[in-house]
Amino acid sequence: MKKSKIKIKWPNNIETYASEGDDWFSVAENAGLEIPTGCLTGSCGACEIDVNGETVRPCIQNISFSNIESLNVDFTSDPFWLKS
Ligand code: FES
Repeated sequence: MKKSKIKIKWPNNIETYASEGDDWFSVAENAGLEIPTGCLTGSCGACEIDVNGETVRPCIQNISFSNIESLNVDFTSDPFWLKS
C-alpha cells in the first residue's frame, strides 16, 4: 500500500512533500534548511518549530498529519534559523 504524502510549506517559500512518520530534520534539509538542535532529548527547546500554529519539537516528534492538506512551518522567532 502506498503511503500518503503531505505538502509542507517552509518559511523560505520552498515546498516539499513528506510521509507520515518522516523525520523533520531530513525533510527540512530537503528544503535547504537546517533545524538547530541542542539536547536531542526534548528538553531544551532549541529545535522548536511551529507547525500549523502548534509548537513541535522535531527531536522527539516525527511528521504527523491526518485530514489536512498541508503543513505550514514557521520559525520566525529565531533569527539564526535560516541559512543565508
Ligand atoms: S534539541 Fe532540545 S528539545 Fe529538541
